[in-house]
This record gives sequence, structure tokens and C-alpha cells, in this order.
Amino acid sequence: MTTISIDTLLTQLKWRYATKKFDPTRKISAATWVSLEQTLVLSPSSYGLQPYRFIVVIDPKLREALKLLAWGKPQVTDASHFVVFARKTTISGEDVTKFINLTTDSRGMPRGSLQGYYDMIIGDLVKGPRSAWVDEWTARQTYIALGNLLTAAALLGIDACPMEGLDPAKYDEVLGLPAKGYSTVCVCALGYRAADDKYATAKKVRYPAEELIEHR
Ligand SMILES: Cc1cc2nc3c(=O)[nH]c(=O)nc-3n(C[C@H](O)[C@H](O)[C@H](O)COP(=O)(O)O)c2cc1C
Repeated sequence: MTTISIDTLLTQLKWRYATKKFDPTRKISAATWVSLEQTLVLSPSSYGLQPYRFIVVIDPKLREALKLLAWGKPQVTDASHFVVFARKTTISGEDVTKFINLTTDSRGMPRGSLQGYYDMIIGDLVKGPRSAWVDEWTARQTYIALGNLLTAAALLGIDACPMEGLDPAKYDEVLGLPAKGYSTVCVCALGYRAADDKYATAKKVRYPAEELIEHR
């Protein structure tokens, strides 16, 4: 197995920043983009349920409309790629069955052999106390995918800007998400920084490790 060095990891994590100004002339290669999409697919989620969808917005007109709904943020149209992160708004018994069947089929197990696991998920997310705020739970899962994408992009030398500053209800409307059972959580623009983005050289603002991390 190949791994990256500690130096590479930290160099790239320090190199990345929330890019405010993208170079609109530079595009992420198709092969690189496919690998970034795979980081979304390979993202871990609680129970493995994957209660989200990622909308890669390619249509320039749609990107323009979404920019207006994000207070004119230039990243929406200038970045090479733009992804809307949407959570599932409900979790039903059918959703759990679909996932359990995918699990058994993927692993060559007989259908029905994961009844206990099915019951556990139903008892938690569909009928249990967490069902009352399941859309918050699905949003949390969605943010994990965002984090994964940001780190993967940094490791590949791709710039990114995660953004919550937008009108989620309007995004939902324009993208037709409610009819499909999804709603907008956040977005991420990806591409290459403009040479004159002054934020690229701004000092990182982070609390010292001793304040954020406890060893007990
Ligand atoms: C979930 C999330 C939402 C964010 N929303 C915005 C946003 O709407 N606009 C923006 O310019 N930056 C946004 N940011 C970027 C943060 O401000 C930035 O990540 C933070 O200040 C740390 O700086 P750095 O990422 O450059 O290290 C967001 C970041 C995250 C993780």
C-alpha cells in the first residue's frame, strides 16, 4: 500500500484555504474530477446509509442563477466545478430496506440476513427519538462528505471554497430538490485560485492545538 508522507499531508492542508477568487480560465481535468467525485461516493456515513445527493452543476445558466441566490458570490460561476450538497429530508422504511438490500447484494449475503441491523436502524431513525430531527442527522452526514472532498482536493492540489452563505430554500426550488426528497445544505466550488486572490497568503487563523485538543 502506498501512503503519502506526513510532510505532504501537512503541507497540503496548510496550502489549502477557502478560495475567494478562482481563475475562470483553468479547469480541473476529467480524470481528476472523476477521482473527486469518488471521494464523495466513498465518504463514510452513519450506518453507511448515505442519506444525501451531490449535484454537480455544469450548465452555465444554472450556475448564474445559483450565484444570484448566493449573494453574487463569484466562486459559483468562476470555479471550474460547483457542487450542491443536499441531504435527504426523511428516512423511511423503504429507504432502509433499499440500503439493507444493497448491503446483502454487495456482499453476497442472502436477502433478509441483516434483519437485526434493519430493525436497529428503524428503531433509531424511523421510529426512535432521532426520527424527530432526522433531517439534522442527514445534514451531519452530508457535512462529512464535504470535509472529505475538501481534504481530497487539497491533497490533489485543487482549490476549493465551501459555502453556506446562500438561500437554501431557493436553491431547493431552482434545483427541484423537494420533489425528490432532498434539500440543500451547503455548496462547494472547486478549481484553481486566481493569481491575485489575496486570501491565498492570509495567515491561517487557528486556536493552538493545546486549546482544541485534550490528551487525557
Ligand atoms: C460549512 C462551511 C461553510 C462556509 N461558508 C462560507 C461562505 O459562505 N463564504 C465564504 O467565503 N466562506 C465560507 N466558508 C469558509 C470559512 O470561512 C473558512 O473555511 C474558515 O474561515 C477557515 O479558513 P480556511 O478554510 O481558509 O483555512 C465556509 C466553511 C465551511 C466549512
